[in-house]
Amino acid sequence: MANLGVLSSLPQTSKYARIYGFTGAREYTYAYFSDELNHVSIREGIRMSGAARATYRHLDLNHLEGLLKKSTATTKIIVTDGVFSQDGDIAPLPDLLQLAELYDAALYVDDAHGTGILGENGGGICEHFGVTSARIIYMGTLSKAYGGIGGFIATEAHIAKIIRLACSAYGFTSALPPDQAVALSEAVDMVVDEPERRARLWENQRYFVTRMSELPYPLVSTGSPIVPILVGDEDAADALALSLGESGIHVDAVRFPAVPLRKARLRIQLNAGHTSQDIDQLIDTLRVHQHGASATIMSTLGMTKIKRDEPAGNEAL
Ligand SMILES: Cc1ncc(COP(=O)(O)O)c(C=O)c1O
Repeated sequence: MANLGVLSSLPQTSKYARIYGFTGAREYTYAYFSDELNHVSIREGIRMSGAARATYRHLDLNHLEGLLKKSTATTKIIVTDGVFSQDGDIAPLPDLLQLAELYDAALYVDDAHGTGILGENGGGICEHFGVTSARIIYMGTLSKAYGGIGGFIATEAHIAKIIRLACSAYGFTSALPPDQAVALSEAVDMVVDEPERRARLWENQRYFVTRMSELPYPLVSTGSPIVPILVGDEDAADALALSLGESGIHVDAVRFPAVPLRKARLRIQLNAGHTSQDIDQLIDTLRVHQHGASATIMSTLGMTKIKRDEPAGNEAL
């Protein structure tokens, strides 16, 4: 809802500025530049805004730069997941920021899976890379590391002020229920005061990735607590998830439209509560299924007719 609300309404800012008496000589036009694997709430928020939009190939900075160069919009906004929700890889924030500076763009980062996880203090992707910038509009969710519900925007005060005015998903809906507010306030303290949980999470992540090297499954990425096993065929991914479920292990199979067609996967997500025995059990169970699964994986991964929701290179600048 934060993505839908904010991205759909940011291009209204010049209208609100006019209402507040700002009479700039310039006409403002907006354009979004969005990674093709961004979360669906980003893609839909951008679409709802009615602004010009362009989709760049996943993490392809050259492609992004080409699109930025072509744009004549006065207000360019680059949008990226921090940790990509279905692939688990981490956006190169310093490089994106460099492009934002070069082309005078804002950089909107959805750090749903980085907030509370990345960075020494759980400060998210900005702490991870040690970057701060007035150009960054940081969006985080309260539903992942914090274990509650809701989302937030952290940005420059004047942008926050505009968002409060323009974003009806913020202003015209009920506030968080008090039980959530109390629980989340406690969770924020835990992220700060109990770094041992984060340390345990990363130990689990490293242990899992190391042990997976014993097995023939292809991993999409290994740099975050989201370590997806690429299966390819949708039904094969469901079948593997079902087999794991029968062994007492819950893993979600992720399939189209959350990921491109025939790029279904098992989205393994490590957390701080897992023990090394849990991970050993997962590895043992995957080992039992490796022959059947790897045959299906290998036979489907070669099929590259990928249907994307918003084809990369789509331009409406
Ligand atoms: C990158 C990303 N953004 C936003 C969301 C939405 O978060 P929530 O479940 O809190 O609505 C998710 C959750 O799946 C996500 O992965």
